[in-house]
Amino acid sequence: MTEHAKLVYNGNSIDLPLVEGSEGEMAIDITKLRSETGLVTLDYGFANTGSCLSEITFMDGEKGILRYRGIPVEQLAEHSTFKETSYLLINGCLPSQEELTEFSVLLNDHSLVHEDMQIFYANYPRQSHPMGILSSMVNALRSFYPALQITEEEINMTVTRLLSKIRTMAAMSYKFSRGHKVVYPRPDLSYCANFLNMMFDTPVKPYEIDEDVVQALNVFWILHADHEQNCSTSAVRIVGSGRVNLYAAISAGIAALWGPLHGGANQAVIEMLMDIHASGGDLKTMVKRAKDPNDPFRLMGFGHRVYKTYDPRAKIMKAMCDKILKKLKIVDPLLDLAKRLEEIALSDAYFVDRNLYPNIDFYSGIVLRAIGIPTNMFTVMFAIGRLPGWIAQWKESIDDPRWKLSRPRQIYTGPKQTDYVPIKKRDARKN
Ligand code: CMC
Repeated sequence: MTEHAKLVYNGNSIDLPLVEGSEGEMAIDITKLRSETGLVTLDYGFANTGSCLSEITFMDGEKGILRYRGIPVEQLAEHSTFKETSYLLINGCLPSQEELTEFSVLLNDHSLVHEDMQIFYANYPRQSHPMGILSSMVNALRSFYPALQITEEEINMTVTRLLSKIRTMAAMSYKFSRGHKVVYPRPDLSYCANFLNMMFDTPVKPYEIDEDVVQALNVFWILHADHEQNCSTSAVRIVGSGRVNLYAAISAGIAALWGPLHGGANQAVIEMLMDIHASGGDLKTMVKRAKDPNDPFRLMGFGHRVYKTYDPRAKIMKAMCDKILKKLKIVDPLLDLAKRLEEIALSDAYFVDRNLYPNIDFYSGIVLRAIGIPTNMFTVMFAIGRLPGWIAQWKESIDDPRWKLSRPRQIYTGPKQTDYVPIKKRDARKN
């Protein structure tokens, strides 16, 4: 097999080394391209650019494969918990019983949020989007808790604080938005049950923990836990590359996730389905609009940069919709609409030719609605799920001796050098 790719340009050529991943993926290493040729590459949206070597998550977009540390996501969704999967992603292997217990104790020990932080929550306008609040509050953690991150112990402390407090902070923002009293974390509850209890327990109506709902949340968060170099993870790595503290890098990841083309799609899908429902179920118009190149509207929850087949997470999520709605005896008209929309799109040449299938966000909102999560918190739920992935990717980058400041190049297309003209002369020219 050749070990180089040859680039021929303007009568010159250069051999560029090939790099092979453990699943046979090949890349051209262009590290020396500019220093040896003066050339840079141009790749909008980094669609063909690998930014790092990574041992965390493997995706095959053509075959619909997703594995964390080698383990298929289907197996994790069936057998693992979100806490165990978080440990796997961050530490590289599944924990022993002793390690898992130790991890749980640490998470419990750090689940409280400094009381002074409540002042911020109390003063956000009630209509604030919870993603904006979460991003700024995670950044604010740096002011309340040290972000020492030199020794392994210090890093573990910051990581544990983030993993544990993010649930408390997300639930707090919900309670404040409702004008309700904050519910504190309980050490006797599991990670997911604790979150649900902090969200929904009230002095008037104690929250009854339903193991099927807890399981649904575990699966939801496991499916979101990592997705290699997506937009928000790249934001965490890029911002982190400036050597900021971990809280700031995660806060940037949350901000990136908020967008409707990324994590914000789960909220956008439900809003789209609600619009269709309100308009009497007119699916054909939506599909027509999505196909119109002159209409910016897109079918939310459809398409993916990497998956060119059915998103494996969407398959699990779709089955979860049926299961949880049946268990909770909920009839959600949006599920029926979503299934019909999928059917129409998947038999339409536009979507077939472009390999546009439902992604994780297409069905996830229906699960979240069923367990009582308000629509504007859907992306916060995604963020909590993605946190272990962001942390694992950040940890991997700080441990990598090749870790460099992220600083892409550009191709300048503006004016050539031009002289400064004083304002009087500029005005005179105009008149
Ligand atoms: N509805 C209609 N057309 C679409 C859609 C869609 N949802 N997605 C892609 N296309 C078309 C697009 O117009 C283009 O058509 P043409 O070749 O005629 O110009 C073609 O498919 C390729 O699209 P692209 O924008 O070049 O592909 P991309 O890889 O840059 O976009 C995407 C990926 C996820 C941004 C896009 O599919 C999209 O906007 N989907 C809707 C938003 C969404 O569901 N996002 C969640 C993604 S999964 C969660 C996560 O990991 O973030």
